[in-house]
Amino acid sequence: MMSTPLSPTEISDWTRKLNYGTWKVQKNWVPLHIADAEGCYFIDGNGKRYLDLSSQLMCLNLGHKNPAVIEAIAAQARVLPYVAPSYATEPRVELSRLLLEVLPKGLEKFFFTTSGTEANEAAFKIARMFTGKSKIISRYRSYHGSTMASIAATGDPRRWPVEPAGKGQGVVFAPEVNCYNCVLKHTYPGCGVACADYVEHMIENESDVAAVILEPIVGTNGVLIPPAEYLPRLRKICDRHDVLLIADEVMSGWGRTGKWFAVDHWNVQPDILVTAKGITSAYVPLGLCATTARIAAYFEDHLFAHGHTYEAHPLMLATAVATIREMQRLKLVERSNDMGFYLGEKLKALKEKHRSIGDVRGLGLFWAVELVKNRTTKKPLNTNEEKISGKPLVVDKIAAEMMKQGVAVQAWVSHFVIAPPLIIEKSEIDFAVSALDEALALADGHVEE
Ligand SMILES: Cc1ncc(COP(=O)(O)O)c(C=O)c1O
Repeated sequence: MMSTPLSPTEISDWTRKLNYGTWKVQKNWVPLHIADAEGCYFIDGNGKRYLDLSSQLMCLNLGHKNPAVIEAIAAQARVLPYVAPSYATEPRVELSRLLLEVLPKGLEKFFFTTSGTEANEAAFKIARMFTGKSKIISRYRSYHGSTMASIAATGDPRRWPVEPAGKGQGVVFAPEVNCYNCVLKHTYPGCGVACADYVEHMIENESDVAAVILEPIVGTNGVLIPPAEYLPRLRKICDRHDVLLIADEVMSGWGRTGKWFAVDHWNVQPDILVTAKGITSAYVPLGLCATTARIAAYFEDHLFAHGHTYEAHPLMLATAVATIREMQRLKLVERSNDMGFYLGEKLKALKEKHRSIGDVRGLGLFWAVELVKNRTTKKPLNTNEEKISGKPLVVDKIAAEMMKQGVAVQAWVSHFVIAPPLIIEKSEIDFAVSALDEALALADGHVEE
């Protein structure tokens, strides 16, 4: 608590004046003062409650203020808040053994970071050291993080402002999987999943490819779910060419899609799995780079040339242990499936009502509602260029309208990412979807048909 309490407006003004707003043209930033939170809601400085329909940044899977996790943070802080990464600690072993239970089989050695971005940076370094090769294949509709290598591997327009000076070398982009609006102008299943085969063509023609990185189910860029053949085929392509497959499950992990990890939908085992966000339900910063025993074996005789002061930070690891135990106790992976089905049906019903909805897709409690000007051409309401230039977007106006009604949702270019806490109740889904329903009138006004 501050000595002289500031008003919500003063807190917003000071924040705006003294801090940077992320991914924003700064003059557009008016940060709302958040004072409290509970379950699926957060509460502003004036006491207004907002249903958190996107779990902040698709990360608060347990919802706000889970008592068991908060107690675990306090308990670890009392015992051992910090010790350097070269030491062994109880939470480190407990978490690592739990990870062996919940991660896809074959991932057996772990490196901890403080964000998804850093976990991807670790994955690239490990892949390059292990294979002795340098190139990384990524895809356009993707986000892998904000620092040098991870922004270089990011396909979406957040990469553009740092090009070319601030961008790491060696990333080449493959076509994304987008069966709603295929960039190759193909239609599934007649396409034969050509987008996967093209990656093999790239590997053969690029040479020197260390790894392919992908979000098994793309997150911010639109909850894009690949067809059944895609990931198993990519796994085989990577194996044929001795290229590592990196699954970026920063957003899609931890029950979000109705399985512990999205790759579990296709029983595909990546060589490296990267995750963050839901691993601690975002209560403390933690990222994970998990590798196979084959990769681990290489570093028995070679320098593992990577590290951070906060690697394996006890406070973070104890939080992850408590988060996983809470997920197991509350059966949140199963719940994500059940509630996800309910949410999906409600969102699909909106499509019947609103001409501006081009597509509704999702798995578990991970959904996108994509808006278009024209259902036939699938032209989006706004473009990547408009997003990056800071132009007000229709989706942002809709999100602002929903905030007025007490529902917070993440908007991106021409869609919403709907990913509530996995503890959400049906009545809360009903409330959120009716707010979206009302606010979509704004989008319908932009339809050109
Ligand atoms: C798929 C994916 N990878 C990486 C990141 C970067 O994670 P962080 O913001 O924790 O650095 C994100 C963040 O949204 C993400 O969604």
